Amino acid sequence: SRWEPGTRSLLQDGSARDGKGFSAYFTKLSRGRREVEKPPRSSADPPAAEDISADDIFVAVKTTKKFHQSRLNLLLDTWISRNMHQTYVFTDGEDEELKRKIGSHAINTNCSAAHSRQALSCKMAVEYDKFIESGKKWFCHVDDDNYVNVRTLVKHLSQYPHTQDMYIGKPSLDRPIEATERLGDNKMKPVNFWFATGGAGFCVSRGLALKMSPWASGGHFMNTAEKIRLPDDCTVGYIIESVLGVPLTRSSLFHSHLENLQQVSRSEIHKQITLSYGMFENKSNIINLKGAFPVEEDPSRFRSVHCLLYPDTPWCPPGVAF
Ligand SMILES: *[C@@H]1O[C@H](CO)[C@@H](O)[C@H](O)[C@H]1NC(C)=O
Ligand SMILES: *[C@@H]1O[C@H](CO)[C@@H](O)[C@H](O)[C@H]1NC(C)=O
Repeated sequence: SRWEPGTRSLLQDGSARDGKGFSAYFTKLSRGRREVEKPPRSSADPPAAEDISADDIFVAVKTTKKFHQSRLNLLLDTWISRNMHQTYVFTDGEDEELKRKIGSHAINTNCSAAHSRQALSCKMAVEYDKFIESGKKWFCHVDDDNYVNVRTLVKHLSQYPHTQDMYIGKPSLDRPIEATERLGDNKMKPVNFWFATGGAGFCVSRGLALKMSPWASGGHFMNTAEKIRLPDDCTVGYIIESVLGVPLTRSSLFHSHLENLQQVSRSEIHKQITLSYGMFENKSNIINLKGAFPVEEDPSRFRSVHCLLYPDTPWCPPGVAF
């Protein structure tokens, strides 16, 4: 069938996140999925620390060639269409049609298309290097099943100076992850740290990204990931929290398909930074939104979200009550 990203991701996460302690990780994930999410803050917008625009943000979308049609096109039709200048797609194969649509923002990482720890780290390494090269103020990473509300992202990031050390996202576990650092000489050292789950998206300030360089730039990211034998998003958390001592700033505005998306309040959908969709135990896990399109036409709800945020989009039906 055309639409089954969640199941696939859960299974593939399962094989990618192998190793000691990872069945516990899965128990936690399913528990987290059932937990009631705290509603996002509904207070007035926080004061801005810096006047930034969408052009100051580098949004990296991680995908794989197999999903260019089914997943990426949905993003290109919706949120990416309004944010071409700040969005870069990191994939693993040549695609002339994608190049025609977004030109040099389609980046073939030349990484393996396997969903292995090494292949994922390989892509994150390229994302990091391209961000540093871009000179932009904020690095944000999302997956190809995320909708990004760039307007709320800009508002959220403008609370913090980009020169400060900032790592913002949502942890997928309710306690720090336990890992083992391999020190050479067969020495091992246990480490505990929080990480922002890649499936919900996360952001890193330029100030902090520059400090990550010895562990992240020019292929060092893959060596670091091998040292702790964890996937890409965990490795980012390891470098930031464990090596650099910078704590994760939690935000409930980022959402992955591993949480219960029905818990996102319908009236607060426009305030979220990222959304997602997926399948779990043969049931679709989607946000609860009555919108421009019925679920059969818009199973991810992303087209309806897009019409809510950008009602002037030509393909959005006029005068829809949400
Ligand atoms: C991938 O390989 C092509 C062809 O060799 C090269 O032009 C391109 O720069 C490579 N991509 C990256 C991100 O290194
Ligand atoms: C999901 O559906 C498939 C095909 O209908 C079935 O084989 C499988 O057992 C179902 N899985 C669960 C967890 O219900």
